[in-house]
This record gives sequence, structure tokens and C-alpha cells, in this order.
Amino acid sequence: MSENFYQKTTSEPSSSFDISLRPPAFSEFIGQDKVKERLLLMVEAAAKRGDVLDHVLLSGPPGLGKTTLANIIARAAGTQLHTTSGPQIEKAGDLAGVLTNLQKGDVLFIDEIHRLHPAIEEYLYPAMEDYRLDIIIDSGPSARSIQLNLPRFTLVGATTRSGMLTAPLRSRFGLVNRLDYYSQQELARIIERSAGLLEIPVESDGALEIARRARGTPRVANALLRWVRDYAEVRSDGTITGPIADAALAMIEIDADGLDEMDKRVLESLIYKFSGGPVGLGSLAVAVGEDASTLEEVHEPFLILQGFLARTPRGRVAMPAAYDKIGAAPPEGGQPNLL
Ligand SMILES: Nc1ncnc2c1ncn2[C@@H]1O[C@H](COP(=O)(O)OP(=O)(O)O)[C@@H](O)[C@H]1O
Ligand SMILES: [Mg+2]
Repeated sequence: MSENFYQKTTSEPSSSFDISLRPPAFSEFIGQDKVKERLLLMVEAAAKRGDVLDHVLLSGPPGLGKTTLANIIARAAGTQLHTTSGPQIEKAGDLAGVLTNLQKGDVLFIDEIHRLHPAIEEYLYPAMEDYRLDIIIDSGPSARSIQLNLPRFTLVGATTRSGMLTAPLRSRFGLVNRLDYYSQQELARIIERSAGLLEIPVESDGALEIARRARGTPRVANALLRWVRDYAEVRSDGTITGPIADAALAMIEIDADGLDEMDKRVLESLIYKFSGGPVGLGSLAVAVGEDASTLEEVHEPFLILQGFLARTPRGRVAMPAAYDKIGAAPPEGGQPNLL
């Protein structure tokens, strides 16, 4: 069951459930105050000058609101949003197709921009800087370069791995924003907002109980809310109270810290199979039967934030809290090997 929620955090939302819960404007976007403030200022300044917005990069773990913000930015600027993603742009021609479709001021949203092919990135530089596209058509002796002038547009890039972005690409963004995990209070507000839209009766204790286990992530909060609603409707009168939320989440083995089955499997493997580490990401991924990049993007950041795991130059290491969590005896000497 928790596998489902974890799926939700890694893939784009496709259900109408998720889409209808997307806040349509900055005023409804809860939390990330600094990022919101900067983006609002940018939109206002551009509007004052009658200019197009500068390019914006949004980075952070899945489910924190990057796609939502891209939508809000376009709407606030009163322009059209075009959406694509790094892996979707395979050839220079794909990029040319997307770029030549833009109107002045439009927002082009490139999700997973770190997965853009390096050769495509090269084409993007002049497009971002000078609104110009140099493409080479044909090959061999008949190859020639043609230059297209593009309308002034705004690129909004999203990435779960800002470290994987090349320096030249990163430097072409006017504003780089990192989204952080949400506080429990913010998540509780998001849950109450979602519950309101879905007409689910929720008590504040119920919202807080879900928030506590939502791994700092709005998408997880909304997925848990949906499960707890089902539970409340079948096992009770439909109202989400603290105890109902607690029982519902216990049933799908999401523990009091929000750790799901995979998180616990990671900690158990680390401690029992690799003596607490250090162990490389690849070995750990094989041991738990999960994709290395999913471990790295979804599970690890949360485990690190909660103090269960550390990344060291030699690999992943279990922290003392992990031994507590799993109920294992702490390592001899008490301290993990952090060097
Ligand atoms: N700040 C927020 N306030 C309210 N809901 C949010 C917020 N951020 C995200 N959400 C909800 O979480 C879901 C996931 O957000 P999304 O923008 O798709 O994340 P990302 O693109 O970063 O993976 C959205 O559908 C939206 O309903
Ligand atoms: Mg997204």
C-alpha cells in the first residue's frame, strides 16, 4: 500500500484528484515564503516595465510544488504555459519545434531539465540569452546552419537534482530557487485546504496527524489524505479525527515519523546487511530492490533530513537514530564511521 504513495511522489500527478488540488495562484500556495516573495517581485517588476520575465530555475525533491509554481508564474504573468521535459526533447529539431511555437512572453516549462541531452543544452544557451536559435540542417558537405529569431520568452526549469545541472546552464537563469520540505503546520494547512476542496470533514488533530507523517511533502500529504478519507468513510462516520488518521496510517504501515516500508527497508539493509555502512548507493539499491535514482531523490533526502542517514565520501552510513528506529543494537564505539 505504501508503495502506492511512494509512486505518487515520484511520478507526475495524472489523476484529477491531484490536479484539482493544485493551488492556482500565489495567494493559495502555502509555505515557501521566500521563493514566493521573490517570484512575486519578479512578476511585478516585469509587469511594470512591460517586459518578459527572466528565466527561473526551481529545484527540490519531488512533490514540493515545482510544477505548481510554474503554472502559477505563467498565470500571474498573464501568459501561456507550454510544458515539456528534458527526456522528451531528443533532437535539436524537437527543441526548435517547441521554441518556434512560443509567442512573446510565453512561459516554457522544462521539467527534469537536468536530463536534457548535453548537445540540446548547447542549443538552449543562445535561445535563453539572445532569443536566437542556430540549427544545423543536413549533414556532410551540404550541412548548413540556419538562424531563427525567437520571440522573447521565459524559461522555467524544474529539477530534482540541481547538482546535476551544468554550470553554464545554471548561470543562464536569472533566479535560482530551492524548494524546502514543508513544516508540519504548513502541511496541516495544505491538508485542510485540500479537504475543503474535496468536501472531506477534517478536525485539526486529524490534519496534524496526517501532516506529521507526510514527509514534508504536499503530494504525499494529499495522497495520505485520500487514503484516510477512504478509511474514515468505511470504518467511521467519514470525519477525519486524530485517532482515525492514526489508525488509517498504521494500516498502511506509515509510522509516526512518516517513514514508509521502503525507508525502513533502506535502514534495515544498511544496518544488518552492510554493518551500518559506509556502502555505495548502487549496492544499497540492489539490496532493497529499488532504483538507485529513486533512492537518491526520494528516500535519502528525507532520511538525511530526519537524521537517520548520512552521505559520506565513502558511501551511505546509518546514524544512531536509525539503530533506535529499527530497534537494533548501536555499533561498537557508538559513533558511525563518517569519514
Ligand atoms: N505550496 C503548496 N500548497 C498547496 N498545495 C501544494 C503546494 N505545493 C504542492 N502542492 C500540491 O502537491 C502536488 C504536487 O505538487 P507539484 O507541483 O506537482 O510538485 P513537483 O512538481 O515539485 O513534483 C500538487 O498537485 C499540489 O496539489
Ligand atoms: Mg513536477
